[in-house]
Amino acid sequence: MRKIIQIVSIPVFILLFFSCSKAEEPALTPLGAKEISGETLWNRITADSDYTQYSYWPGHEGLQPGQSPHGLYHRIFVNRALMEALPVNGNTAPDGTIVVKENYTSSKELASITVMAKADGYDKENNDWFWAKYAPNGDIQAQGSPKGCILCHEGMKNNDYIIVRPLDEPVK
Ligand code: HEC
Repeated sequence: MRKIIQIVSIPVFILLFFSCSKAEEPALTPLGAKEISGETLWNRITADSDYTQYSYWPGHEGLQPGQSPHGLYHRIFVNRALMEALPVNGNTAPDGTIVVKENYTSSKELASITVMAKADGYDKENNDWFWAKYAPNGDIQAQGSPKGCILCHEGMKNNDYIIVRPLDEPVK
């Protein structure tokens, strides 16, 4: 009898282990400079690692009021490459960082998804960020090094183009 219980409990434990760890964001090799594109990045934040499982920016959780031009409300998700590095001395996000910003209309409908992803060697002049904008269904609306994104975010070059929060701010 004990043996049967033991035999039965093994798959149960395995099942429990996988069902509990399912939501955990996998540690993935960062997309390389040659590999990164609107398409590979969309796959990375959906199929490879669902961005809605990432952490919110610490201190900036859930739906937040936003500024132009991104929409009236937003939610910002940060992947583990950056989360594990926070607070970053020198204000430079590590290779593999992905920041996903969902942009909502005044009636709180998802309007677009804007993403910044660090790919070592992709764009040395602009701190190696790959920029992308998607429709909610994943259609690519902008990708690569769009001037618009860079010109506006450049105002925060001393914080690695990140606007919403100082990278070196301690995480509570
Ligand atoms: C006119 C200025 C402006 C332009 C153009 C712009 N942004 Fe932003 N962006 C902001 C502001 C301001 C924030 C801070 C959050 C907020 O208030 O919406 C932000 C935040 C973000 C964030 C969250 C990380 C952070 O920096 O705080 C991402 C990701 C992002 N933008 C991506 C993009 C992409 C991709 C483009 C181009 C398609 C773009 N942005 C164009 C102003 C701009």
